[in-house]
Amino acid sequence: MAIRLGDISPDFEADTTTGPISFHDWKRGSWAILFSHPKDFTPVCTTELGRVASLKAEFDRRNTKLIALSVDSIESHERWAMDIADVTGSTVNFPMIGDPDRRIAMLYDMIHENESDTLTVRSVFVIGPDNRVKLTLTYPASTGRSFEEILRVLDALQLSADYAVATPVDWRNGDEVVIATTVSDEDARRRFPKGFVSKKPYFRVTPQPNRD
Ligand code: BEZ
Repeated sequence: MAIRLGDISPDFEADTTTGPISFHDWKRGSWAILFSHPKDFTPVCTTELGRVASLKAEFDRRNTKLIALSVDSIESHERWAMDIADVTGSTVNFPMIGDPDRRIAMLYDMIHENESDTLTVRSVFVIGPDNRVKLTLTYPASTGRSFEEILRVLDALQLSADYAVATPVDWRNGDEVVIATTVSDEDARRRFPKGFVSKKPYFRVTPQPNRD
């Protein structure tokens, strides 16, 4: 069944390159990004895994754990990780789930049969500390993802989780944000002491509240 925003992320037990995990226990108290790649020893996936490894400190700063999945074995992941380090210069520094029987891929609807009935698509699930799904992305095998974009949306999601704000088109960390329409002007003056500008009665902007 499709996993939709706001759903509790399905829990599962899995073998990973860093040992067996129980997903919700493993991520307890953190945000998590569960992402699939179609197959080990493939070029686009190699670039993606190296890039994510190079950005790990950025995810750590955001209290966000990373976990990758493909329908290959742990042994295959371990051999491939050597190639990833060789080609990209980055050592994989997060667990990779081995899912040769596709149990977790099916649980997360990562196999889209009209694309491939054996490989996963490139799925991304951003999951909050409450275990609820906050964002999903689906890319085809032919298209590598931008993990800079995933960091950007993580910043936006975390900001909206902490403050009654939304982020406008092309928002980047540090830009002004939009005050939620559910907040009255009076309440907005209390919540956003830096003030706000009303562009329309339904459209008020304020400096990013968690920045000096
Ligand atoms: C790749 O990562 O390059 C790839 C993986 C599966 C199918 C096609 C390309």
